[in-house]
Amino acid sequence: MDRKKVTIPELQNIKAKGEKITMLTAYDYPMAKIMDEAGIDMILVGDSLGMVVLGYESTLPVTMDEMIHHTKAAKRGTKSAFLVGDMPFMSYQASIEDAVCNAGRFMKEGGCDAVKLEGGAEVIKQAKAIFDAGIPVVGHLGLTPQSATKLGGFKVQGKDAEAAKRIIDDALKLQEAGCFSIILECIPDKLAKMITEKVTVPTIGIGAGPDCDGQVLVTHDMVGLFDRFVPKFAKQYVKLSDQMGGAFREYIAEVKKGEFPTQKHSFVMKQEELEKV
Ligand code: KIV
Repeated sequence: MDRKKVTIPELQNIKAKGEKITMLTAYDYPMAKIMDEAGIDMILVGDSLGMVVLGYESTLPVTMDEMIHHTKAAKRGTKSAFLVGDMPFMSYQASIEDAVCNAGRFMKEGGCDAVKLEGGAEVIKQAKAIFDAGIPVVGHLGLTPQSATKLGGFKVQGKDAEAAKRIIDDALKLQEAGCFSIILECIPDKLAKMITEKVTVPTIGIGAGPDCDGQVLVTHDMVGLFDRFVPKFAKQYVKLSDQMGGAFREYIAEVKKGEFPTQKHSFVMKQEELEKV
């Protein structure tokens, strides 16, 4: 039976019932389709695309055009999940106009249900303008990879009282600006719990402990398709790189030995036709 389309009220409902919201990243048709059919609530076309699919060193080089290209592919595989497009570095920081226009591209060209941007107080104007333009927005606080250099690297955020208070304050400001959900990345579990209790919108954690309203992971981390590192907070459910490597080695060996293709994989021509060639 087909699942119903996940909507913002449905996400709020999941929180209200004390159930957990599930979110994963996808950047193409097959991944989106497999997780949509598995029953995922939300799919994020993350700018992690840059590292796990495009092979960049960080997320900074990712362009709007790259994001739109991959979002369109993920959209084709998404039937029921709520699809969120991740605004890449410098698609919203320079001006409110950039922010609204680029958010609009995710909706018009990418077919998204919402967009996500990183940051707190410094992006409140952008978040509000996007919301006022009628586009649902997800906030993202804590370790925000686009600002990793400014934050001193890929480190846990909000570990002292002052930093924790700033993140709580940012969460309340993002909610006030219209964000319907907030991602909390790499912050202490107790801080994530506190934020989750203070805001009314669902929080989605990644490296933020079990008390958020939902959880998100970068799919390539959890299926073992990203070889550079596995973050401490990511659980690897399967190591697809080993399984794929094995399949590739078997194929190479079989082709070299003439064991593939066999008759089963070949097309036949009638003998009388063959004789006329
Ligand atoms: O780009 C991404 O995949 C993200 C998640 C880590 C939340 O922003």
